[in-house]
Amino acid sequence: MKTKAAILWEPHSPWSVEDVELDDPLDGEVRIKLASSGLCHSDDHAVKRDLPVELPLIGGHEGAGIVEEVGPGVDRLRPGDHVVMAFIPACGHCRWCATGQSVLCDYGATIMTGLPISDGNPRTRARGVGLRRMSMLGTFSPYAVVHQDSCVKIDESIPLELASLVGCGVATGFGAAVNRAQVQPGDTVVVVGCGGIGTSAIQGARIAGAEVIVGVDPVPFRREMAESLGATHSVSSMEEAMPLVSELTRGVMADRAVLAASLLTGEMLMPLVSLIRKGGRVCLTSVASVETIQADIALVDLVLSQKEVVGNVFGGCNPHSDLPRLLRLYQKGDLMLQELVTKTYTLDQVNEGYEDLLAGRILRGMIMY
Ligand SMILES: NC(=O)c1ccc[n+]([C@@H]2O[C@H](COP(=O)([O-])OP(=O)(O)OC[C@H]3O[C@@H](n4cnc5c(N)ncnc54)[C@H](O)[C@@H]3O)[C@@H](O)[C@H]2O)c1
Ligand SMILES: [Zn+2]
Ligand SMILES: [Zn+2]
Repeated sequence: MKTKAAILWEPHSPWSVEDVELDDPLDGEVRIKLASSGLCHSDDHAVKRDLPVELPLIGGHEGAGIVEEVGPGVDRLRPGDHVVMAFIPACGHCRWCATGQSVLCDYGATIMTGLPISDGNPRTRARGVGLRRMSMLGTFSPYAVVHQDSCVKIDESIPLELASLVGCGVATGFGAAVNRAQVQPGDTVVVVGCGGIGTSAIQGARIAGAEVIVGVDPVPFRREMAESLGATHSVSSMEEAMPLVSELTRGVMADRAVLAASLLTGEMLMPLVSLIRKGGRVCLTSVASVETIQADIALVDLVLSQKEVVGNVFGGCNPHSDLPRLLRLYQKGDLMLQELVTKTYTLDQVNEGYEDLLAGRILRGMIMY
């Protein structure tokens, strides 16, 4: 079929919205008619080359929609099903899936190529060239052919536009606090960077019962959003957070910290680790440039204070159990989704959306189809 997509042809260039040709689904694949796509910062990391995703690429990895057609061998989905597209597929039987760590599924191995899991051949073309799709999804297009293992079936009562948010940002942030930092009731938590991911970490910390949540962001609008979504305090930098957290904890410092700023750099680790108490845990969520291989850290502080620094991909979630769980929290009124979407765009406005995101004028932008 013919449709449109936002394509990145060259590094550091704008998204180009143009006509594309999309093949029918093959073995194990489905065609999805998307309702919406969130604008996550990670697609901008593809533009800036912090993430070495191969080009040319259809962007976007935070989508939800309705299954329109299924290919041969699809046994879990049928036309009409409502699905969230998970930015990491889960095969269900590799070592990682079998041990409850689907987020590390072996199907993620080729994610940077953006080519289909099944045979590695592009299903979409423009200008006569095969296109890759961000996270093997490419949600900057009203239609996508993706593997059934990238799809999580959801309840039809959930608004599809909002459901797309759990395909990356909300799950990554919520899971940063709950699964990876393991926030406990009564904890003091610092969240550095209050964008779509950071504010979802704040919501995760709130729902997990944190007593004090300090949001850190240089942008006043982001701090306001942080406080409206559960932060009890907010400051503009980690330096400013130091005396506040010290005062709030009588010198003990925070139990957990989540880093969700725009980009992780080596200099951020030292102040971040200084914000947590002995035995505390820091969860690194922001993408770092592939070229960053050094970080400042007081090693003796890690060793003798028994501090932990953990990574985080997709909130450590098992998509088939955790994404529906998050949507149940939304339905119950605990997890706010609508409030995250501060502006909507058409596909043609995708570059405007990223300008607004990078300027801090919006929280989560969303393309509506
Ligand atoms: N690990 C994963 O699985 C995963 C998944 C999705 C996104 N990410 C990454 O998470 C990060 C955040 O994504 P987002 O969509 O929320 O981005 P965003 O642009 O909405 O938010 C980033 C926020 O960080 C703030 N910031 C920048 N420098 C800061 C600093 N030094 N101290 C405090 N705040 C600072 C910005 O003002 C902004 O509000 C990005 O690096 C993104 O690529 C990781
Ligand atoms: Zn993302
Ligand atoms: Zn697997």
